[in-house]
Amino acid sequence: MANIVIVGAQWGDEAKGKIVDYLASDKEMVVRYGGGNNAGHSVTVGNKEYKFHLIPSGILNSETVCVISDGVVIDPGVLVKEIEGLHAQGLSTHNLKISSSAHVILPYHRLQDALEEKRRGDSKIGTTGRGIGPAYMDKAGRIGLRLGEFVRKDRFEARLKALIASKNELLQNLYGADPLDADEVFAEYQVYADYLRPYVVDTSRLIYEAARGEKGVLFEGAQGTLLDIDLGTYPFVTSSHPIAGGACIGTGIGPTFVDGVIGVAKSYTTRVGSGVFPTEQLNEIGHYIRERGHEYGTTTGRPRRCGWLDAVILRYAVQVNGLSCLSLGHLDVLSGLDTVKICVAYKEKDGTLITQMPTDLPYREDLEPVYETLPGWKEEVSDVRTYEDLPENAKRFAKRVEELIEVPIATLSVGPGREQTIIFEEVVRARCSKRRNG
Ligand code: IMO
Ligand code: MG
Repeated sequence: MANIVIVGAQWGDEAKGKIVDYLASDKEMVVRYGGGNNAGHSVTVGNKEYKFHLIPSGILNSETVCVISDGVVIDPGVLVKEIEGLHAQGLSTHNLKISSSAHVILPYHRLQDALEEKRRGDSKIGTTGRGIGPAYMDKAGRIGLRLGEFVRKDRFEARLKALIASKNELLQNLYGADPLDADEVFAEYQVYADYLRPYVVDTSRLIYEAARGEKGVLFEGAQGTLLDIDLGTYPFVTSSHPIAGGACIGTGIGPTFVDGVIGVAKSYTTRVGSGVFPTEQLNEIGHYIRERGHEYGTTTGRPRRCGWLDAVILRYAVQVNGLSCLSLGHLDVLSGLDTVKICVAYKEKDGTLITQMPTDLPYREDLEPVYETLPGWKEEVSDVRTYEDLPENAKRFAKRVEELIEVPIATLSVGPGREQTIIFEEVVRARCSKRRNG
């Protein structure tokens, strides 16, 4: 079996959790490789909805080993709560492993996140306020605290107190904020350290073994391609590597172990936070999509910005992730519209057409999307279970997406439920089921 990476092909919130949950049952292991509790992954099983921020969505399969690997930044209080929440629902976490190299989000990271956003004023990023950026800053600045050290009784207290002493200088002198009480923070976090200690291991070795094994590994991406720190719409991005390459960096697996990459996209586009969004619909269409698609953040509850599908962005996602196939979702949300649109290019003021994603997109408020208009479908499709039963115009829409991005569709989704997925078995088999280098 193959090792597969699942990535968001847009600006996050593509419903990656659902496809991870679906594919996880065949795999030995599911690995969350980047980001932190800025992510919000929902999985609906029957009439029960599960929400995860840090724990891989694969945890619903009791046989699957779930790993939070090196590339993730972990807020220990949030993780403890998430584990407790699963136990309260009768789910086991005996198969959960957390990397000793993952970095810890501490209270000063959350403070810095909020204070820095305030300083930015109108040009704020619109972060989730979870301390993600500052935690990655400290990691890159080599002053971060890793989980392995966090759970060591002989090291944690001294390290934490030294870190807080220097962060207090920053908080007081730069931001004019109150200092943190190191004893208080230690008392709280020591409890989390004790709780998490049994889960903390060297995960890179475990992942390597599983990636060489019979069943293979599923790498669960968080956020989306356009939020990547290097390849996204900088500076309105997150601080990690959501793209497929991030699965290697964030786990210690070499690129030759990745056999397939599945991009996940909605049949329209959403974005949370600030930054350019060429196909945004600040009108009744945007409203229609938001309400029908329940487009409110899982993590912060913010209404998501909504607009038409952007094929320029999807083609870019194909390029930078090396997508093997696409999981196209939320087709049901577009039901009831007379026409649906797909952006196929951007137009400059002088009429020049741009068909490839420009790297200066974040500053290109001048670009106008060029749309292809397709006939819509009036029928509700959430009960449709086969491709043949979809309305002709919904099929036409999906086919057109496939043509525009030149990558086959592996699954079409018509709702959040496990059963609301139309799977193209032959695509999955051809593109995502064989080891290529093993
Ligand atoms: P999932 O995994 C949507 C966005 C934030 C903000 C920017 C930076 O659910 O797809 P950060 O707190 O990361 O420093 O914020 O990134 N963002 C997301 N948007 N879904 C996510 O995750 C996101 N994670 C971060 O809204 O614009
Ligand atoms: Mg989200």
